[in-house]
Amino acid sequence: MKLSTELVRLTINVLTPPRTLPRPFGPTLRDRVAGKTVLITGASSGIGRALAERVAAAGAIVIVTARREPELLEVVAGIRARGGSAHAVPADLSTDEGIDQLADRVLAEFGAPDILVNNAGRSIRRSIALSEHRLHDYERAARTNYLGAVGLMLRLLPAMRRRGSGHVIASSSIGVIADLPRFSAYIGSKAALEAVMRVAAVECLSDGVVFTNIHIPLVDTDMIGPTGWSGYTALAVPDAVDMFIDALMRRPATVDNPLGTLALWSRRLTPTLARAALHTFHRLMPDSEAAKATVPQPVS
Ligand SMILES: NC(=O)c1ccc[n+]([C@@H]2O[C@H](COP(=O)([O-])OP(=O)(O)OC[C@H]3O[C@@H](n4cnc5c(N)ncnc54)[C@H](OP(=O)(O)O)[C@@H]3O)[C@@H](O)[C@H]2O)c1
Repeated sequence: MKLSTELVRLTINVLTPPRTLPRPFGPTLRDRVAGKTVLITGASSGIGRALAERVAAAGAIVIVTARREPELLEVVAGIRARGGSAHAVPADLSTDEGIDQLADRVLAEFGAPDILVNNAGRSIRRSIALSEHRLHDYERAARTNYLGAVGLMLRLLPAMRRRGSGHVIASSSIGVIADLPRFSAYIGSKAALEAVMRVAAVECLSDGVVFTNIHIPLVDTDMIGPTGWSGYTALAVPDAVDMFIDALMRRPATVDNPLGTLALWSRRLTPTLARAALHTFHRLMPDSEAAKATVPQPVS
C-alpha cells in the first residue's frame, strides 16, 4: 500500500513541471496585451492576482474583481506604484445581482474588455459517498465556477462580437480531463463551463472572439490548503501564471501540462485501465476531516 502511494505521488510530481517560456516565435505577451483592457475575476489572491500583476507589467489596463475589496485595492495600489494601470471593481459572482453590477460598471466605465479571464472559483473536495444529503455542494460550486463565469461572459460577449475581437479564458481544472475522484461537485461545475466555452467558440468563430480553457494542475494557493495534498508537487503561482501567458500569446482552445495530456490520452486510448488506476488512487487517498464532518460545511 505504501509503495503504491509513493508511486502515484512520484508519477504526479514528475508530470507537473513548470512551464517553459518564453516562446521564440509568434506574438509576445506585450504584443497581445499592451494598451488592452484585461478583466480578471478572482484577482484578490492566488493565480488571478499574480496574473493581474504580470499582464499589467506588460502594459495592459487591468480591471481586477473579487469579493474582498481591501485585497483588490492592494493589488491596484501595487500595480500603480510600479507604473502600471489598474482598477478595482468588487463583485460577488455567485449572485445574479453581483454579475449584473460588475458587467454594468465595466461596460459603462471601460467598454467591452479585450480579454476576459474567468478565474474566480471555489473548490470542494468530498467523495460522492459523503454527499448523500449535500446537493448544496453542487449548487455552490456551480453558482461561482459555472454560472458566475457564464453569466459574466454572456453580458460582455455581445459588445466583444460587435467590436470583432476578444479573448475569453477560463480557469478550468486538470480534474476535468482526469476525472479526479472526490471533486465531483467542483469538476462538474468546471466541465459545464468548459462545454459552454467550446460551444461559444463555435458560434463566435467568424466574430473574431476566441476562447481558451486552461486545465490548471495543483497550484500552491490558499485554495489547496484544506485538501491535505501537501505531498504532491503543486506548481508555484508564477509557473501557473505561465499557462495563462501561453494562452494569451498562442490563443489555443486548451492549455495543458504533461500530467493533463497523459490523463486525457489514457482516458481516450485505454479508458478501462484509466478508470481502474483512478479508482486505486481514490482508495489510497482518504477524505479530509472537513469532508467527513456531518454538519454541512464547504471545504473551502
Ligand atoms: N489552486 C489550484 O490547485 C487550482 C487547480 C485547478 C484550478 N484552479 C482554479 O484557479 C482559479 C484561481 O484559484 P486560486 O488557486 O488562485 O485560489 P484562490 O487564491 O482561492 O483564488 C480564488 C479567487 O476567486 C475569488 N472568488 C471566490 N468566490 C467568489 C465569488 N463568489 N465572487 C467573486 N470572486 C470569488 C476569490 O476572491 P474573494 O474571496 O475575494 O471573492 C479569489 O480571488 C479558480 O477558478 C480555481 O478553481 C486552481
